[in-house]
Amino acid sequence: MALTVLGIAGSLRAGSFNRALLAAAVELAPPGMEIRPWEAARLAEIPLYDADLEARGVPAPVDALKAAMRAADGILIATPEYNHSIPGVLKNAIDWASRPAGKPAYGGKPVAILGATPGIGGTIRGQLALRQAIDADTHVLPTPEVFVARAGEKFDGAGRLADETTRRFVAGLLRAFEAWIDRLRVSAPAS
Ligand code: FNR
Repeated sequence: MALTVLGIAGSLRAGSFNRALLAAAVELAPPGMEIRPWEAARLAEIPLYDADLEARGVPAPVDALKAAMRAADGILIATPEYNHSIPGVLKNAIDWASRPAGKPAYGGKPVAILGATPGIGGTIRGQLALRQAIDADTHVLPTPEVFVARAGEKFDGAGRLADETTRRFVAGLLRAFEAWIDRLRVSAPAS
């Protein structure tokens, strides 16, 4: 049976390199994997985390994201780097999904991370911050890592990932992620 992977890009802007990177991942996924990107508009609907709001009832856009996380065999996150960390929009979604404490919607899930920046650092620090935010409750693919630097040179005018080397890196990460998901399934205790 095909693996379904929830794809999240941590950017709301239409011309996002990270959303384009996620679109490339959809194209480059191995035959047994279907990546379903979470729409930017649905990410934008998520309010700022507020425990008082949560106490009145989890907002529907949060519920929807949490349900998608629970249903997925794995989660692929394409993160921008903002100020050497992850964008607030992504952190906010993670904060909501991490609740209630000790029972995150992404709990126990295999996760893979990649990221793109027009800068030279390839989102290294952003990806480290993302690992730190979620690795207590997930199984983040350790390697390979994909850092897309100078993104303006890697995507064409239509937002397609045109750089062949980067495409090979993304395809390699997805093959490793498929094996990672299978490995975790095998080692999971029977419920
Ligand atoms: C940035 N950018 C950025 N880039 C980087 O490589 N390291 C960084 O620390 C930052 N910091 C940062 C802060 C803020 C507030 C903004 C708006 C931008 C640039 C960033 O990588 C660039 O805007 C990307 O294009 C964002 O990703 P998307 O939207 O293209 O996916």
